[in-house]
Amino acid sequence: MLRLKLIKRADDRTLSQIISIYKEQGWWTASDNKKRLGKFISGSRFFLTALDGGKVIGMGRAISDSANDAYIQDLAVLKAFRKKKIGGKMVDFLVKKLKKEGFRWIGLIAQDGTYPFYEKRGFKVMKNSHPMVYGKL
Ligand SMILES: CC(C)(COP(=O)(O)OP(=O)(O)OC[C@H]1O[C@@H](n2cnc3c(N)ncnc32)[C@H](O)[C@@H]1OP(=O)(O)O)[C@@H](O)C(=O)NCCC(=O)NCCS
Repeated sequence: MLRLKLIKRADDRTLSQIISIYKEQGWWTASDNKKRLGKFISGSRFFLTALDGGKVIGMGRAISDSANDAYIQDLAVLKAFRKKKIGGKMVDFLVKKLKKEGFRWIGLIAQDGTYPFYEKRGFKVMKNSHPMVYGKL
């Protein structure tokens, strides 16, 4: 049964499962490690896990200024569990938490043509804007 759980820290097994999700997306680099992941988790406003039994099958997080602006990031569901409404439930959960805490600006970068997925959850493509990142990709 699916369970959504916010975490502030994770045991070694949970960290390994979260790393598997990052790796499946190609979002894990050689210089990343469990200690750094622990900091991503504790430093995020919310770090959400989706659990099937005891196994982490999805994740997503929100980073913020703790008052007004927040970004949703690193949202992913393991390939084997996609198209079962899990990703949508995670986005809805994070948005609800952020709105409840008074955040007025909630943004994200929709990778790989996923913007229709986010549009279904109330997000809009920002006209005349381009997501950018510093340095080489
Ligand atoms: C994007 C992602 C999180 C969606 O998770 P999911 O659990 O498969 O999504 P859901 O089952 O909740 O889908 C909800 C709705 O969005 C649609 N949808 C899901 N993925 C989509 C995509 N990539 N493009 C367009 N629509 C999509 C579904 O068809 C569904 O529509 P419906 O409600 O009309 O049936 C998942 O595909 C994933 O992990 N992708 C790789 C990582 C990624 O791209 N993350 C997001 C960008 S940062």
